[in-house]
Amino acid sequence: MRIVLLGAPGSGKGTQATLLRNQLNVPHISTGELLRAAVAAGTPLGLQARAVMESGALVSDEIVLGMLEERFRQDDVQRGFILDGYPRNLAQARALDALLDRLNLPVDKTLQLDVSEESLLARLAGRATAEGRADDSPQAVAHRLHVYQEQTAPVIDYYQSHGTLVRVPGEGSVDEILERIIAALG
Ligand code: AP5
Ligand code: MG
Repeated sequence: MRIVLLGAPGSGKGTQATLLRNQLNVPHISTGELLRAAVAAGTPLGLQARAVMESGALVSDEIVLGMLEERFRQDDVQRGFILDGYPRNLAQARALDALLDRLNLPVDKTLQLDVSEESLLARLAGRATAEGRADDSPQAVAHRLHVYQEQTAPVIDYYQSHGTLVRVPGEGSVDEILERIIAALG
């Protein structure tokens, strides 16, 4: 099963992908986590990405695509994958299609988690207190939501027109949402 998980910052992509990975026994590939690991390790890529991420803007398409290509070269993706955090704009959506075509690993389902802005803000404020992620400050959250509306939301229509999109209500308990996702995957 090859799944792309879409949704605004705080919509539960990471939470649900972690649970689904265990159910489906496929790797969870999060571009945000790959970038945060690079920042933590102080690699050249991490040094370049750090300030951009802290501001809530998008890291350049070129850097993220290079990182993703490297991840897709690992053998475990042959079993399938849950991709979280990519694509973030239409150029990335097209680049992903080209990459997956080349690897002969087309996407089966694209799931959009729909969550109200009020809930997104509450969840991210909660995580700021609990975990202190660098981009969960009020300024960075506001910028992330703006970038999402401007650049990422159009990706939903892209997948709608490709016929792989399913929208899943992303509010309620984590387990309820997981059940909806599993039902949507069929
Ligand atoms: P990324 O790591 O992808 O962050 P994001 O999209 O902003 O999303 P989050 O990880 O904050 O939220 P989530 O949807 O995973 O929700 P979660 O499960 O954590 O990207 C970070 C940055 O990296 C970007 O801003 C950009 O700079 C860069 N980047 C990444 N990918 C890129 C790309 N492709 N191109 C360019 N730049 C890129 O849940 C959030 C909180 O809510 C948690 O505390 C959780 O416990 C809680 N929660 C989850 N589910 C529920 C529920 N049902 N009820 C109540 N609380 C819940
Ligand atoms: Mg996440």
